[in-house]
Amino acid sequence: MVMSEEKERGEKKARPDSTRRAVVAAAGALVVGGVVGYLLAPRERVVTETLTQTVTQTVTQPPQTVTVTQPQPAPVAKRYERVKLANIRDLVDKRPVFKQYMGYNVLLVKLGEPAVGGVGPRGDVVAFVNQCTHMGGPLVYLPDVNCAVCQIHFTQFDLARGGKQVTGHATEFLPQVELEYDAATGDIYAVGINQLVYGKYDNLA
Ligand code: FES
Repeated sequence: MVMSEEKERGEKKARPDSTRRAVVAAAGALVVGGVVGYLLAPRERVVTETLTQTVTQTVTQPPQTVTVTQPQPAPVAKRYERVKLANIRDLVDKRPVFKQYMGYNVLLVKLGEPAVGGVGPRGDVVAFVNQCTHMGGPLVYLPDVNCAVCQIHFTQFDLARGGKQVTGHATEFLPQVELEYDAATGDIYAVGINQLVYGKYDNLA
């Protein structure tokens, strides 16, 4: 009798433990399941990306040949002009006059004696570029000797002999202006210069 009561109490004590374990086990299973479910659950991810691209392009073109045709200026014929310098009636023996011819200062004089290259009824009218052949100094006419003398180093040129240097530093004749004489009108024309002027490589340049 006593033993069956104790047994019955023992059973009553054992029942609550098994129930608690079952509850704890169930709760643990729920927690584990929740965690696993959370980890395994598919997720949505919204990714916003901004893509920036820099494109570098190298283009190689074949070399080109460009031909440009430009109109060429018409060649200018360089020549001496025929320019009237004076009339024979305007000239007085041994009294020079100064004229311009092709840009040069020219000494024109009637020498009163026949001269190399002279024109006019007596062949005594001559003209020379008024510039020394030594260093380009200006000249002064000397009527007594029909010469021109340089004002820089005093070279003297004989105007009756084609401008030949007589004394001084110059080694070249004085450039003589070539003249033409119109007997009908008495006009005297310059038509050229017989040699290079000092400082020029071309009298017409
Ligand atoms: S520049 Fe005429 S002689 Fe020297």
